[in-house]
Amino acid sequence: MKDQAGNLRDIVDKINNKNRILYSYEDSDLHKNFVKPTSKNARVITVTSGKGGVGKTNITINLAIKLAKQGLKVIIIDADLGLSNIDIVFGVIPKYNLSDVINYRKGILDILEEGPSGVRFISGGSGLQDLVKLDKNQLARLLIELGKLDEEADIILIDTGAGLSDQVLSFIYAAKEVILVTTAEPTAITDAYALIKIIAKKDKSKEIKLLVNKAENSIEADNILNKLHDACLKFLGVSIRKLGYVSNDSNIPKAVKIQQPFVISFEKTEAANDISVIAAALIDNTDYKQDNGYGIRLFVNKLKWFFN
Ligand SMILES: Nc1ncnc2c1ncn2[C@@H]1O[C@H](COP(=O)(O)OP(=O)(O)OP(=O)(O)O)[C@@H](O)[C@H]1O
Ligand SMILES: [Mg+2]
Repeated sequence: MKDQAGNLRDIVDKINNKNRILYSYEDSDLHKNFVKPTSKNARVITVTSGKGGVGKTNITINLAIKLAKQGLKVIIIDADLGLSNIDIVFGVIPKYNLSDVINYRKGILDILEEGPSGVRFISGGSGLQDLVKLDKNQLARLLIELGKLDEEADIILIDTGAGLSDQVLSFIYAAKEVILVTTAEPTAITDAYALIKIIAKKDKSKEIKLLVNKAENSIEADNILNKLHDACLKFLGVSIRKLGYVSNDSNIPKAVKIQQPFVISFEKTEAANDISVIAAALIDNTDYKQDNGYGIRLFVNKLKWFFN
């Protein structure tokens, strides 16, 4: 069996090989022929982590609800190709997924499920898993249908499985912004750093926003945010953003048990307040305001390129 370092080396080698054939997505024909959306573009943010179980799904859902309460139209895409559980935490069972779109059974608007506070979500299901096997027509269909989401959403949050698989890396590379979740556990921090290192090899300009979850207090969280930020700058030449933290809060597992997002069932709890602060920091992202030329269509175009 390969150790983790072996797997990491394989992934990095693969990326390097791809770079040798074609320098970057921006140099590809796919990009040169890409028609930039002229209308509104949604902001696409991938939520990921190095280690599993650090709280990505809970953060994605509760952040989405807080953003929706600020008047933004938010769609979550469940891209966890393993054990997906947005639906469980949301308390809504999806009837369809992206496979139904790819196979012309449904349009993208038909598979949008509505959850609390008007947040909508899409289950990737096997649709995203099979991306690599799609023929030209199916890919074109997916691109056109997903492109409709630019009109439907201000922000699209993509909940992934834990990092380091090819698929998760592709979702990271394709999105302009990434929220990287870690906890204070040394293994989670090491895995977060390993993931940033891989991303940095490919794209130093990626906007990586670091979030510490299950923090005991602000001192512990700031300590991790500062240390990771400084190490990335010094050793990788990457400047990551310190997005903030969410407290370790016993109401979160309780909310999961009753299948309700904690910002609704425990709206006065500490973690709910922390999520509000994170939502405000995301909306107040001045860099983003200066640059509105991305959208879901470019995301899917890039995804296609990485999968091919
Ligand atoms: N801030 C927190 N305080 C206490 N418990 C938390 C907190 N955030 C998440 N949890 C708990 O941690 C567990 C994992 O959370 P979650 O499923 O959101 O993680 P994940 O990163 O999406 O996992 P996976 O990698 O399996 O997709 C859940 O049982 C949840 O209740
Ligand atoms: Mg999850």
